[in-house]
Amino acid sequence: MGSASAAPADVFKARFGTAGRQFSAPGRVNLIGEHVDYNDGLALPMAIDRRTRVWASPRGDRRLSVIAYDLGEEAELDLDAPARLTGTWRDYVAGVAFHLERAGFRLGGANLLVTSDVPAGAGLSSSAALEVAVGFALLALAGHDIDRLALACAGQAAEHDFVGTRCGLMDQFVAAHARAGRAIRLDCRTRDFDLIPLDATQCAVVVADTGKRHRLATSAYNARRRECETALTTLRQKRPALSSLREVTPADLDAALAELSAPLARRVRHVVTEIERVEAFARALAASDWTRAGALLTDSHRSLREDYEASCAELDALVAAAQAAPGCHGARMTGGGFGGCTVNLVAPAALEAFLREVPLAYERATGRATRLWVVAPSDGVGETIPERA
Ligand code: GLA
Repeated sequence: MGSASAAPADVFKARFGTAGRQFSAPGRVNLIGEHVDYNDGLALPMAIDRRTRVWASPRGDRRLSVIAYDLGEEAELDLDAPARLTGTWRDYVAGVAFHLERAGFRLGGANLLVTSDVPAGAGLSSSAALEVAVGFALLALAGHDIDRLALACAGQAAEHDFVGTRCGLMDQFVAAHARAGRAIRLDCRTRDFDLIPLDATQCAVVVADTGKRHRLATSAYNARRRECETALTTLRQKRPALSSLREVTPADLDAALAELSAPLARRVRHVVTEIERVEAFARALAASDWTRAGALLTDSHRSLREDYEASCAELDALVAAAQAAPGCHGARMTGGGFGGCTVNLVAPAALEAFLREVPLAYERATGRATRLWVVAPSDGVGETIPERA
């Protein structure tokens, strides 16, 4: 059993008799492009310097023996037995293994130990980091060439039918493809992506946690996705060729909105305007125009609050506290919403005061504590090769 007193590597070795190989995948923060990935839109996330680490060694059978180090829990899974859903971390492991095999990657049994410093349930994609890290480890142990897109898709499929979140591909895609010093502009329609340099010496990216966890975040998320599907069905009556909300052009937006009931019209307006904001944000990054980039974050938050209704009082208060701080270019909720974290662009010279003042202002407004992290754009999943002594 993993114990917090012995280091993960020592626990793995003591338990499985070998040092194993070490793999890791990052959490992510989405800079802009929220709730558009499942509408074939554009998103612009980056991986953060918080990771899920997996120690792994092969076994001769088809079993997965898994230690969840941080929780002090263990599980035995059988690749040949139909998975039983448990509503716990086991489902992510079972789900990604199942979907990799289904995609044609035959796996072998493995001993695994998992540990993570990606905060869970905060909207920083700790679950995608887990799926992608474990999936990569299993592929590597089985000797497969790593197909990063297939790996991301297996993680997404695990969320859909092992966990029950009908998420888009963004989180798993970033965990699989990210590069240090870069954000990713991801086109969810074609799955093409560009790596965009992000220089932390010019602008700090700060993640702030509301501390609020929405009990019904999964059902609220799935409800938004359903609303988008219903809106698409309605719009197809006059536009039979429409394959996703991505295809609704800004020029056609007013006509499209007039065909929808009020809440659905607001959802579609968010999706269409958010996709435009991603393009504008990418241009602002390329020009190092942080004022413009920040203003787009602020617009995005307004749209998520008013039109998509994916924010909450705590997120709004934390965004307001940040926006009032000198040197903050812009702030907004990040990830699925209904709780979780905000993302903030802050001038480096103002960073120290920002980190000091925003928690005080947030606590005054809500009575809650916040945690802030300055995050660096980091590498996607990979194997850590131990340094030779
Ligand atoms: C969650 C989902 C993503 C994406 C975001 C919202 O993080 O996992 O696929 O839809 O919410 O942008």
